[in-house]
Amino acid sequence: MNNFKWDKKYDVGIEKFNEHHRQLFTALDNIYEAMENKKDKLALAKIINDLQAYAKQHLTEEETCLLVNGYPDYDSHRKQHKIFLTKLDQFIDDFNSDKYLLHIEIAMFLKSWIANHIMVIDKKYTEFLNSKGIK
Ligand SMILES: [Fe+2]
Ligand SMILES: [Fe+2]
Repeated sequence: MNNFKWDKKYDVGIEKFNEHHRQLFTALDNIYEAMENKKDKLALAKIINDLQAYAKQHLTEEETCLLVNGYPDYDSHRKQHKIFLTKLDQFIDDFNSDKYLLHIEIAMFLKSWIANHIMVIDKKYTEFLNSKGIK
């Protein structure tokens, strides 16, 4: 059972980005469900596929929003996103080589991303973007 649920403490002050971030909590639900039901490889393939779609949509939109608004920490924020993308590539390789316990590894990575990126790095743009009228 995944007890990692979105709540106010994950609020980055931009409704659209909160909606995107909720998708990571859904991914965690799906990972736990796949583990509990001992689902086959297909379930994990879908989870990884959804994460790719998430990365493509969310990271790009966030970066564009920060860039067009002249966010001062844009470069370092983008570097962090690159880490997410690199990790995702690694998960795809791991999936293709049938890595043991990959579900758990992905769940742990997502939890640490939520705690260290969304709750720290993303929250740094709240005041800046809100002051530009983006909420
Ligand atoms: Fe984000
Ligand atoms: Fe971000």
